[in-house]
Amino acid sequence: MGKEQAGQVRDTAAVRSMLRDAGYSEKAVNYYLETPHLGIIDNPDQVSEMTGTCGDTIKVYLKIEKDRIQDVKYQIMGCPGSISAAMAAGDLVRDKTVDDALALNDGDVFNFLEEIPVKKHHCIQLAVKALLSAIQTYRDGNGGDSVVKAGIPTGHGRNRTGKDDRLGCCGAPKGEGDCETAGTCCGKTISLAPKN
Ligand code: FES
Repeated sequence: MGKEQAGQVRDTAAVRSMLRDAGYSEKAVNYYLETPHLGIIDNPDQVSEMTGTCGDTIKVYLKIEKDRIQDVKYQIMGCPGSISAAMAAGDLVRDKTVDDALALNDGDVFNFLEEIPVKKHHCIQLAVKALLSAIQTYRDGNGGDSVVKAGIPTGHGRNRTGKDDRLGCCGAPKGEGDCETAGTCCGKTISLAPKN
């Protein structure tokens, strides 16, 4: 499936069928199609942008009041995996304190989405990394806008080479990351198949 901007007109039934066949859970497909956190926040407390090694970009808007995440919105130029993961991550941190939100990890999102193709797990990593970077920047008191390019230092994106095999898709050493719990990545051989 080619890269597309979320929200454009689509044949929903056909997209749902294709994504289900590709290994996305019903929940993940719903997040991709319904995009509950897509958009921008007026007068945000933090805006951060991150681009992964695959070239996909996630811009995060945060509204934070009394140390709690009141709202999360995204502008995303990315694949179904990154969009569904970002939406799920938004739900997982909303109403949490900043510190609790920073405890979110890739495994939380993977488990919450229930099923996502193995070769798309780096998309979860990008979504979580972009969100946590925005929250951390806010907490550090930097505020304003921040932009990070190639936010995945050693992920399983299209640019990955065999040299990166030391790390799992969660960014932790293989066998030590959260995705080992999910039984998906760590300690296993991950396909280097090109992006869909
Ligand atoms: Fe880049 Fe999914 S986030 S391919």
